Amino acid sequence: MTFRAKHLLGIEPLAPAEILAVLDLAERYVALNRRTEKRGDALAGLTQINMFFEASTRTQASFELAGKRLGADVMNMSVAQSSVKKGETLIDTALTLNAMHPDLLVVRHPASGAVDLLAQKVECAVINAGDGRHEHPTQALLDALTIRRAKGRLQRLTIAICGDIAHSRVARSNILLLGKLENRIRLIGPPTLMPARIADFGVEVFDDMAEGLRGADVVMMLRLQRERMDGGFVPSEREYFHRYGLDAEKLKAAKEDAIVMHPGPMNRGVEIDGTIADDINRSVIQEQVEMGVAVRMAVMDLLARNLRAERGRQAAGVMA
Ligand code: NCD
Repeated sequence: MTFRAKHLLGIEPLAPAEILAVLDLAERYVALNRRTEKRGDALAGLTQINMFFEASTRTQASFELAGKRLGADVMNMSVAQSSVKKGETLIDTALTLNAMHPDLLVVRHPASGAVDLLAQKVECAVINAGDGRHEHPTQALLDALTIRRAKGRLQRLTIAICGDIAHSRVARSNILLLGKLENRIRLIGPPTLMPARIADFGVEVFDDMAEGLRGADVVMMLRLQRERMDGGFVPSEREYFHRYGLDAEKLKAAKEDAIVMHPGPMNRGVEIDGTIADDINRSVIQEQVEMGVAVRMAVMDLLARNLRAERGRQAAGVMA
């Protein structure tokens, strides 16, 4: 099997063939999800726990639906009401959950690296649903599937990622994934929102939208992540929209058939004009949400196969 990993903690360790294995399987789940009867059994008998230490709408809902459609028992741990609020450490929470024998643990956490740490303490497969500004692998995979379906390929495209790059795990995972598949990546945003030494990642950096968008096939907008800023990054939202907000005028610099993406949640009138976001000829934002469920089904299916195989080997070892 091409996809060998035990966990999905990030895009960084994945080989191109593993990425494509996820996308190919996800295509099958797109078809299943469009049927009236959306039932698979890849996760039948397995327990999936979703643990979100940070607010989420689409990611959590998407993982929940994905698990249920494949037959898993899905539990959403409400962190706000859990003993985390009483001061329990992440590790203690992980050990408590581990004792309940989950098979899949989906975790979002505000600290970069927290999900990797947790994965070392539990016996099940762990999926990173976003850790700080580090990685958000399923978002990059669903973006890749959306791009491949819209453009018919996932190589040799010019992809502009615009806005708050410095605080964005979505940008990081996308840069890694799209880079592995030999695309040309441009980052556009104010210098205050560009991470240091970003050019080492083999990307081109711009602080002017018209220049950066020139000839782009894909325009990916990012939310201004105020919760990760400690003040002073951007002058005012109005000024930001004026310089970096995507509107019809700025989009003219990109290719005529360029698609517009946004991971959500959107700030209309800040990083993107509402009319562009709703323009079904340009925006694939709703497709991204649809692909999200299919990609998460594929990821959990592949991890469950590896988990079953590993446990089978362990059991055989015990008997031998
Ligand atoms: C992103 C996230 O949480 O990292 N949203 C998402 O998963 N759909 C991006 C964001 O919060 O701006």
